[in-house]
Amino acid sequence: MTDTAIDYEQEPREGEIKIHTTEDFDGMREAGRIAASCLDMLTEHVAPGVTTQSLDDLVRAFVFDHGAIPATVGYRGYRHSSCISLNHVICHGIPGPKVLKNGDIMNIDVTVIVDGWHGDTSRMYFAGETKVKAQRLVDTTYDALMAGIETVKPGSNLRDIGRAIQTLSEGQGFSVVRDFCGHGLGRVFHAPPNVVHYAEYKDRFGAIHRASNITLQQGMFFTIEPMINDGKPDVKLLKDGWTAVSRDKSLSAQFEHSIGVTETGYEIFTKSPKGLNKPPYA
Ligand code: MF3
Ligand code: CO
Ligand code: CO
Repeated sequence: MTDTAIDYEQEPREGEIKIHTTEDFDGMREAGRIAASCLDMLTEHVAPGVTTQSLDDLVRAFVFDHGAIPATVGYRGYRHSSCISLNHVICHGIPGPKVLKNGDIMNIDVTVIVDGWHGDTSRMYFAGETKVKAQRLVDTTYDALMAGIETVKPGSNLRDIGRAIQTLSEGQGFSVVRDFCGHGLGRVFHAPPNVVHYAEYKDRFGAIHRASNITLQQGMFFTIEPMINDGKPDVKLLKDGWTAVSRDKSLSAQFEHSIGVTETGYEIFTKSPKGLNKPPYA
């Protein structure tokens, strides 16, 4: 079966959250391992002088070599095997002829399908040396993701994830992007629930937005993927229909894991097999 057999237009983003079995955990573990190994592989290839398309080519080759399918190819018209989001790009950056230069920071996001299961993960990378401020943003974003994950256990609340991320990030003077969120996944790429990365915020019209307060249950699978800006949280979508940038051009960082709720807490499906969690990787 090819990826074209999956009808992504039918993906429900609202409704029942699927509860998965022990065998389903096995499926996600394998998909997550391959996605994370792919991100490990990229650590030695990100460098000044390299194009983002060449990195995407490496992703595609790696994914097929490991018996997997890149979930993003054919997804709502997207044609690449990864998203590469440089500097002030928040997410969904499209790989292309752009050449990396010294000091660039970027998120690389890979989703693979293995035996029908989706492994979705992203990390930050540095080309060459990085400034202290970028390192602090990246460290904070990683810490925020992990703080969100650590709240996860049966009986805890979805909103606690967002609260942990928001408290940590805003405490460092950064802002949480509100326009994109994590998501349920499994045999589908994007499923309920929406996993927002804040507990609540007031928009520019004064309206309060709160994260949903559903109770987590064993067997739920979802991603947590905070996008944190060194500036305002506002997003602008470029004319290509994909690339989302920070409106004020501030630097943006993101990390993503796919996780499952276990009997006592959580399992991270997309942990780096080599312990390459965040840059610098060398
Ligand atoms: N991997 C992204 C996520 O975390 C989705 C990318 S969809 C694409 O959900 F089409 F932009 F690749
Ligand atoms: Co995702
Ligand atoms: Co992703």
